[in-house]
Order: sequence, then structure tokens, then C-alpha cells
Amino acid sequence: MDTLIGLKRSHSCTEVTTAHEGQEVVLCGWVSRRRDHGGLIFIDLRDRSGIMQVVFSPDHDLEAFKKAEGVRSEYVLAVKGTVQLRDAATINPHLPTGKLEVYGAELRILNAANTPPFYIQDNIDVDENVRLRYRYLDLRRPEMQYNLMLRHKVTKIMRDFFDSKGFCEIETPMLAKSSPEGARDYLVPSRVNPGKFYALPQSPQLFKQMLMVAGMEKYFQIVRCFRDEDLRADRQPEFTQLDVEMSFIDRDEILNIMEGLVSTLFEKCVDAKISTPLLRLSYDDAMARFGSDKPDMRFGMELIDISDNVRGSNFKVFDNILAAGGQVKAINVKGYAAIPRRELDGLVDYVATYGAKGLAWICYTEEGIKSPIAKFFAPEVLDAIGKTAQAETGDLLLMVADKPAVVAAALGQLRLEMARRRDLIDPNKLSFLWVVDFPMFEYNEEEKRYVAMHHPFTSPRDEDIPYLTTGELGKIKAKAYDMVLNGTEIGGGSLRIYSRDLQEKIFGAIGLSKEEAVEKFGYLLEAFEFGTPPHGGIAFGLDRLVMIMAKRSSIRDVIAFPKTQSAIDPMTQAPSTVADKQLRELSIRTSLLAKKK
Ligand code: AMO
Ligand code: AMP
Repeated sequence: MDTLIGLKRSHSCTEVTTAHEGQEVVLCGWVSRRRDHGGLIFIDLRDRSGIMQVVFSPDHDLEAFKKAEGVRSEYVLAVKGTVQLRDAATINPHLPTGKLEVYGAELRILNAANTPPFYIQDNIDVDENVRLRYRYLDLRRPEMQYNLMLRHKVTKIMRDFFDSKGFCEIETPMLAKSSPEGARDYLVPSRVNPGKFYALPQSPQLFKQMLMVAGMEKYFQIVRCFRDEDLRADRQPEFTQLDVEMSFIDRDEILNIMEGLVSTLFEKCVDAKISTPLLRLSYDDAMARFGSDKPDMRFGMELIDISDNVRGSNFKVFDNILAAGGQVKAINVKGYAAIPRRELDGLVDYVATYGAKGLAWICYTEEGIKSPIAKFFAPEVLDAIGKTAQAETGDLLLMVADKPAVVAAALGQLRLEMARRRDLIDPNKLSFLWVVDFPMFEYNEEEKRYVAMHHPFTSPRDEDIPYLTTGELGKIKAKAYDMVLNGTEIGGGSLRIYSRDLQEKIFGAIGLSKEEAVEKFGYLLEAFEFGTPPHGGIAFGLDRLVMIMAKRSSIRDVIAFPKTQSAIDPMTQAPSTVADKQLRELSIRTSLLAKKK
């Protein structure tokens, strides 16, 4: 086997065009497919750019032909040959190079390959663990190469965009200080400071605020963040943010800049026009209308409040809930009155997973209303429900009665589920919006205290600050905003607190004592006393953004080497045990050490 190329690559596969007819080219790549048509061997040679068909014939070059007989899938080749136009009958309209082929005159086998564990082609149905175990093969597939190149393009445009607007990219530490409030940290033991730990940053939040105190005015960074959370399709333990912070701005300036960025990105990367300004919806409206703070607005089916229609009826379940301050809401699944009974029973279980204690329904059929609860309501009440819900013959009304938070969660999820089942979501639609005016705090039942909904460095709205003194924390809204795309939160940020006094009050509200606040965030409080400009910013989830651009359903498909749902890398087998010596150096003893042996 040849071990050196000995041939100089002249073109990538798709650089060769009809203009090269009759010319000699040298192509390098992998064998995507090899077909032996007795007497003629066809090889689809694949490189990053695409595929070119190479033909070997004994009449043309016997030596090359003989070598080609021994070639198998995924062998690495260098081929020298002449570009020819294919016969009309053999043109492949699906390939950019489908009108051409290269007649092989010289073949170098640069490397052999074992039979791959799966086909190196798009749309394969292979267990993701196998794909991740052989990620280097998975990434050879054209769709995965596209995803990685798209991601490169996105970050390149981001850098150019912010550079042109006077932003400066600044790196912040990866070995940082552990802080409460947020997800669980990934910890790194310090050898030279026995018993002490760094934390990998969950975001550069406080560093970027320090950069504002430092007078950098406009900062951005494309930066890795680490969070030890339960993983999902759109959550990885390490992920990438486009992180932004600015001084002397108001909220709308930040929103405008980010709108400019997304419209530039979508236009340049996927040729999609986005009309700005984007819709802005308050958190309260989003929850009321869609049962979600990241509503998917590619379809309607909004939540409809029928509390007033059913109040005072004979249906005790609803009445008791309303009397206790709850609500009754519905979604109208258009044209689905013929839903099978079994599916309805399944939906009851579905909403139960979101805390709903029941699901009531009305089917508006040709023969009239069918519903297990109709008997409790006078005809006028049924009429009123139908009017409020704009129900027509053929429609299905699904109703949940409960505390507002449970109604929102259950019906919000049911709305998404029914849209999927009824195929109401246009995959080509891009539905952007801002959700604004988030609550500053949310009550954490487990910890029996209020926690910051965004983070505790977010500024409350000026008019709500008095509630800090009266203790009505639930009434305080924050100067926070999220960008939502197709039902995914792709970015979030806020205007920040920049006075020590207000910051201390917020720490107090979430139950941090003065001492704890100083121990954890003393440097921030101190910095606020050295001339801090008003500032604010945002961070976008780069992985999520690229995932949606690439029309994928998991961020793992746009990350070169992601982790599984259980935070494992099947290729390198990280995380792994380490030598006792390493642990001793770090002054660490684990309770699992004995088992390890
Ligand atoms: P936040 O926590 O909202 O804000 O994060 C910003 C964006 O990062 C993305 N994201 C994730 N992506 C993948 N995997 C994860 N585990 C993950 N967690 C978050 C989301 C999210 O919108 N410092 C603040 C920003 C600020 O206030 O400026 C922050 O980190 O798309
Ligand atoms: P029951 O009288 O408990 O048999 O309930 C009659 C109907 O009301 C059933 O279809 C239940 O699923 C429904 N139901 C009960 N509780 C609720 C609730 N909290 N929200 C919506 N529907 C409910």
C-alpha cells in the first residue's frame, strides 16, 4: 500500500465543474460507495465538499483498475484522472457533480478501513450511543458536516457583527468561584490549596459585570458554560453561549441589537428573512395565552379562560376549584371531535404528569354535544362555553380546572402535544418573540423560600422596588427578557442592579444573610462602590440557535462531541476513574474508592 500521497490534490470534489471537461484533476477523499459493473468500477469519492464519481476501466488504465478492485467502503484514496461529461442516460440530478465523472488514471490507496458499524450517509436509523461511540464516523456523514460548518458560519458572523458594532471579545476564567443560586456546579479540586475547589462557570455573568465596572463598555464572548443539571434534548452539561454585556443602554437597545443579529444570521446562513421588531409579550400574557414562558407561536390553539362561564354551575369539581382561587381553562382542538375514546383516556394520563387532577372534554359532533360533564350544565352555560371557545361542529374542547400554575403547565403542554398529533406545526416557519416583564422571584416549595427567577443580579422594575420592603416579593417584576424561537428559549438577559444597597436587598429577599452575601459575592458588592455604570446584557444558547437553524431536534447534532443523557462521552469514556495517586495529590478521598478496585 502506498503510504505517501505522492499526488498533489488539485480540487475538492465539488470544485470540479463542466468547465474542467478534458482536464486532469487530483481528488482525495473516502470511498462512499464502490460498484463493480464487471469490467468497470465506479467509486463515489466523498470529501467534505461532496461527492464525485470516479470510473476505473481496464482499457483506460489496467494498473489503476486492478487497485480499484481491492478498494472498500471508507478507504482513503487519492485519484488522478480526467474530467468527462457523463452520457445523458447516466446523469445524476441529485448530485451537484451529477453531470460529471473522473476517469481514473492513477490510484493511490492512502489508507484502508474496517467495515464501519453503520452507513456513512444521511438519515440513518442508528442508536445514538453507537453514533457517539464512533463519532468520527458519524461526523463524516454529510448532514453532520453541514451542521458543524453551519455552526462555524454562525460564530463567524456573530464575531463580525459585534466587532462592527464596537464590541470587544474578552475571555473570562474557566476556573472560577462556586456560587449558590443557579444549577449545580462542576467542581475542580485545587491541588495547591488542599480542600478547596474551583467551579467551572455556569456563565460568565459576574465577570462580564466586572468588565463593565472596568469600563469596557461593550463586551461579548463565545464561551463554554457548565451546568450539572438533568439533561434533555436541548440541555448539555457543557454548552456554548454567545454572551453580551453593555453599559449606558436601556432595554430596547439590547433587544434591537439582538434582533439585528438574528436577522443577519438567518438571512446569511439559511436565507430566511425575519421581520423586526419582533413581537413582545409579557410573561403574564404568555402564561395566560399559551401556558408557557416560551410559547411556540407557529400555531394557535390558545388557552381560553371559561371560568366565568362555569362559575356557579352544578359541577362541584369546577366550582370548588374556582372558589379556592383556581381557574378553568380550555383549548379548542379544531376538527377533532371524532377523537377515539382510548386517546382521550390517554390524554387524562398525559395531563396528570403535569399535575392536573383531571381532564374534561366536550365533543361538538353532528349529533350534538358529547361530554361526560354536560349533564352538570344548563343549556345556557354550555352555549356560553361554546361561544367563548368559538367551538364549531367537529371541534374538541379539552378543559382543566386547577390552580393557575397547574392549568398553565398541563394545558400548555397539552396544547403542544395536540399540535404535534394533529400535525399543526409548520417545520419551515420561524416564530420569534421576546417574553418580557418576568417575575423577579419565584417561590421554591422545596427550599421554602423565594429564589430569583433569572438570577439575583437582575434589576427589579423601579416601580416594584417598594414591594421589597413590604415583603410582597411575588408582585415584583424584573427588567428581564427572553428570546424565544419556535417554543425554545434561545436567549435570556436583563438590566442589572448596579448599586450595593439594592443588591444587598435582593440577596436578603432570597434568604442570603449579610455574611453569606459578603462571603459569596463580596467582590461584586465592593465593586459597586467604585463607580459602576448602569449596564445590562443577554446570553444566547448557541447550540440551541444552530439546532433550530439546522432543523434538528437535539443540540447533540450540532455539537462535535456531545455527552449522552447520562453525561457520558461514549467515545472517550469520560468520566472515568483516576489513579489513587491523583486523588491523594488533590487531598481527595471518595467513598467509592473501595468499589473501584
Ligand atoms: P441563562 O441561564 O438563561 O442566562 O442562559 C442563557 C441561554 O443559554 C442556553 N442554555 C443552555 N443551552 C444548552 N444547555 C444548557 N444546559 C443550557 N442552559 C442554558 C439557553 C439560555 O437562554 N448569565 C445569564 C445571561 C444574562 O443574564 O446575560 C445566563 O446564563 O438558550
Ligand atoms: P368526576 O365527577 O370526578 O368523575 O369528574 C367528571 C369529569 O370531570 C371527568 O371527565 C374528569 O376527568 C373531569 N375532571 C375532574 N377533575 C377535573 C379537573 N380538575 N379539571 C378538569 N376536569 C376534571
